[in-house]
Amino acid sequence: MDVFQKCYDFKRDLEVKAAGLYPFFKTVEGNFGSRVVIDGKEVVMAGSNNYLGLTRHPKVVEAAIEATRKFGTSCSGSRYANGTYVIHVELEEKLAAYMKKEKALCFTTGYMTNLGAISTLAGRRDIILCDRENHSCIMDATQMTFAETKKYKHDDMQDLERVLEGSDPEAGKLIVSDGVFSMKGIIANVPEMVRLKKKFGMRIFIDDAHGVGVVGEHGRGSAEHHGVEKDVDVVMGTFSKSFAGLGGFIVGDERVISYVKHHSRQLIFAASMTPASVAAVTCTLELIQSEPQHLANLRAVVKKVRGEFRRIGYEIPDRPTPIVYIKVGDDVAAFKFWKDLLEMGVYTNPVITPGVPAGQSGVRASFMAIHTDKDIAQVIECFEKLGKAYGLLK
Ligand SMILES: Cc1ncc(COP(=O)(O)O)c(C=O)c1O
Repeated sequence: MDVFQKCYDFKRDLEVKAAGLYPFFKTVEGNFGSRVVIDGKEVVMAGSNNYLGLTRHPKVVEAAIEATRKFGTSCSGSRYANGTYVIHVELEEKLAAYMKKEKALCFTTGYMTNLGAISTLAGRRDIILCDRENHSCIMDATQMTFAETKKYKHDDMQDLERVLEGSDPEAGKLIVSDGVFSMKGIIANVPEMVRLKKKFGMRIFIDDAHGVGVVGEHGRGSAEHHGVEKDVDVVMGTFSKSFAGLGGFIVGDERVISYVKHHSRQLIFAASMTPASVAAVTCTLELIQSEPQHLANLRAVVKKVRGEFRRIGYEIPDRPTPIVYIKVGDDVAAFKFWKDLLEMGVYTNPVITPGVPAGQSGVRASFMAIHTDKDIAQVIECFEKLGKAYGLLK
């Protein structure tokens, strides 16, 4: 049997392309912030994770250029060896101070951060408690460890308690959860995890990729949002969303960070973040603290957008997160809705099975601090027209 046979048998992409509905790997030809050029046409970008809109902030761009001039385009080695530059250390110190934890550690991507941190922290004889709808990289991390993984129903703390009650009381336990779930923008019930932590003696690891920079009074994420920062042991975040760069981090106790630093294969055997990314992230972190208007603008956009979606008849929950999920139906219906939106001038991301259960496919719209009233009006007008056409409105 040819190991490549499955590749030659795979035709789904060709079928969807032939139907004119293929939505993936769309090429962005120009990026003007809240608007981008796709297929030669300017459209509103309502599908980016650049929540604070800082990827084109002049200070961030300048910082990246300046660091490239000073340190070059690549560190050409891992953090463990030749790839730790003074700017990596400075970023980690600033991150730890901002997140109010003893130490921080940066990885080259958010994906690798979860792989490296979770697989290192949970080992043989430990149990990982994992929400069924956690991000793929958390799922991958659970497969890389010798720890047993027990999944609980999505955002269901009663089910988590049930799973904990049935678990070996002597085993080390780590609950891992998205802080803000990436598809629907639900904020995890961290206070209830804290109660269960105290009852069952476990540790809490929150992946706040979509939470840090976005929720909580100072943007420190879902734990700050709920007022339980001290009880969360490790917070993980990425730099590819609010932080205008590429990379990821964890923050926690000094001993915990040192353990990951000296055991994580994803840190030790991969090249470090580029100088441009480190400098962009450091600058963004400074802006988050010195220019609160970015978070304030994002909050105003979120409030307006959610209100507008409800006004036109979509039943969407009231949440402080910039992710709005619109359920359309089966995969083909979601592809068509997505394509119609794009043709009308709005880019969103399609979400299909197995990312969501069958029949719940749709589009994920996400909003940024830099969306203008004009952008929002255009997005809402398109969603209203299509909502009527697809029978999605109340
Ligand atoms: C919840 C969550 N965790 C981790 C990641 C991985 O981060 P990155 O894309 O920065 O590698 C993502 C990215 O989509 C995410 O949504």
